[in-house]
Amino acid sequence: MDGSGEVPLYRQIYLRFRQSIADGQLLAGERVPSVRALAAELNLARGTVEAAYQLLIGEGYLQARGPAGTVVAPLLQPIARPSPMTAENTIAPTLVHSGAVPGPLQIGLPALDEFPRKLWNRLASHELRHSGVDGLIYPDSRGDAGLRAAVAGYLGVSRGIVCAARQVFICAGYPGILDLICRSLLKEGDQCWFEEPGYFLARRFLQEAGAQLVPVAVDAEGLNVEEGRRLADDARFAVVTPSHQSPLGVSLSLPRRQALLDWANRKGSWIIEDDYDSEYRYQGRPLPALKSIDNQGRVLYAGTFSKVLAPGLRLAYLVVPEIQVERFAVMADRMHNHCPQLLQATVATFIRNGHFARHLKKMRSLYAQRRALLIDALHEHLGERLKVDQQAGGMHIVGHLPAGYDDGEVAEHARLLGLAAVRLSVCYAGSENTQGLMLGFTNVASAQQAGEVVALLAKAISSAAPVPM
Ligand SMILES: Cc1ncc(COP(=O)(O)O)c(C=O)c1O
Repeated sequence: MDGSGEVPLYRQIYLRFRQSIADGQLLAGERVPSVRALAAELNLARGTVEAAYQLLIGEGYLQARGPAGTVVAPLLQPIARPSPMTAENTIAPTLVHSGAVPGPLQIGLPALDEFPRKLWNRLASHELRHSGVDGLIYPDSRGDAGLRAAVAGYLGVSRGIVCAARQVFICAGYPGILDLICRSLLKEGDQCWFEEPGYFLARRFLQEAGAQLVPVAVDAEGLNVEEGRRLADDARFAVVTPSHQSPLGVSLSLPRRQALLDWANRKGSWIIEDDYDSEYRYQGRPLPALKSIDNQGRVLYAGTFSKVLAPGLRLAYLVVPEIQVERFAVMADRMHNHCPQLLQATVATFIRNGHFARHLKKMRSLYAQRRALLIDALHEHLGERLKVDQQAGGMHIVGHLPAGYDDGEVAEHARLLGLAAVRLSVCYAGSENTQGLMLGFTNVASAQQAGEVVALLAKAISSAAPVPM
């Protein structure tokens, strides 16, 4: 408010409301603050606000509804008019995560129809009622103590990782983990082995953090450690997805695991083990985590609740070697990037009370069925036009396109048909790549849906067929 007296204060308030209604910031039917509340907020006399409201009511912008308060007149529409911001606002940025509900075949999502909402609601309400001041003060910057203990317990039993709760750090998703690692250990220009193909979001994150990435080929046994040593034996980091290589789904073989650890032990390098969806395996026994055979503390182990619960929680965890606990704790505290306490406490109870193990068991058999539905439909509708890789686990299928196809073009045709298939070539840093598609099966709920979705995919592939020479 401008108190110079040129425009009376009540008129300034009147103009602010008029402007906000015209711009659509205040919508028809929306309740506005009471005279008393607004006067207190703006530190003005009540009579001043009262005069502005009377004018707005008189001109039909606001309606007084007695005890129900004062609202913007229900039929008022914002005035569409160019504002200096308009041009800027109409250029939509290309976002990987825009908040839009993804189309069928989206990768990396758990079954959204199977999130245990009722149970969650009960646990979250209980937490809210009983948390005392814990949920209101600044939380522990390393993560909720209960959740850190629950994660350590879960990892011991399910992944063979022996760690104490103090070694566990709760972060906002995998980017939060990478951020904490980079700020704690990475120096500008440090070399970092990165799987080729690999997880494109992590690649971009590490590059922006100042790492010098060295693409290292992945074959049927996972990351080719020999090649890594040949290309950059002195690298300070290696980022790997040993359980299900992202995106190809292969497991890092035991000899390669040993070779990788030997290299890290000798060189004093760090291995970032991204164990993002190891919980899902449909044949055979899950391989223990690389971290479980890390005797010299060279592995930084990353897990996430995005795949086993929901990515909207933005909760992930990092296990650091004992000797690094203090350094990471100081950095986590400096970052001051805490995850919501009540959410963390709810997940802790979910694990502690046995719901997590039950949920995982249920999801494992559900995903095995959904995976089969999609694979059957792909065979039926696409045959040789998409060669499906039958990996033992994970949450997506990789399909390879025949020679001559451009996977970017196929993915674009699929997008126009409402599908969320992602091109495989996005996972490669180099120009030599494989043309294919990554297809999420976790939300394919029936044979009929699988058939419909794959029929659309077949259309997209036909539309992108290479023109014969
Ligand atoms: C390879 C890989 N690592 C980690 C993650 C976990 O990411 P976040 O915890 O940020 O959801 C994902 C999610 O898609 C992934 O694909």
